[in-house]
Amino acid sequence: MTDISIGKAQRLTAPCPFALLTTLRDDGGTNVMAVSWWSYLSNHPPTLGACLSNKGLSGELIRKNGEFALCIPGEELRDAALRCGQCSGRTVDKAAEFGIPLEDAAQIAPKVVAGCRVVFECRLVDTKEVGDHTIYIAEPLAIRGDESVRALFAFDGYARLGSVTEC
Ligand SMILES: Cc1cc2nc3c(=O)[nH]c(=O)nc-3n(C[C@H](O)[C@H](O)[C@H](O)COP(=O)(O)O)c2cc1C
Repeated sequence: MTDISIGKAQRLTAPCPFALLTTLRDDGGTNVMAVSWWSYLSNHPPTLGACLSNKGLSGELIRKNGEFALCIPGEELRDAALRCGQCSGRTVDKAAEFGIPLEDAAQIAPKVVAGCRVVFECRLVDTKEVGDHTIYIAEPLAIRGDESVRALFAFDGYARLGSVTEC
């Protein structure tokens, strides 16, 4: 073994989880962001965390509105989902521009991505700033799933998305 950078470690620990995180925009629309740094944090009570850069729009919108959805998209959104991680909702309406299908959520104001393997509709319960990121700690108000949809995972330091064959 040799000493490696944090970026190299992130490449070596792929595949990483992947989600599209949706938030309510100021114009009433829905912003969509690519997120790999999300995790289950507790089972009792069910709690999730998403770790977002302090520079992006999504964190600002979560702090303002207290809600977001974590949507685990299927393979047909591979290219569009990657593009949601390459530009900010500050300048682009990503759902419209990249053809991300949205539908109404059951419990929260932002829409959710349609056709997902899993969707978590989340209410913010706490935040913890860690260096240049903030962890948004949330309670899922609704969880829905469709086992027939194959999830996407992040590879190569988040440069590539792909599915994984079940072993
Ligand atoms: C595969 C992939 C995974 C990403 N994961 C994260 C992440 O976990 N946290 C983060 O802050 N940014 C992550 N990003 C980068 C954001 O999606 C990107 O900065 C985006 O422009 C933020 O959008 P927003 O300003 O609309 O919130 C990821 C990008 C890609 C392509």
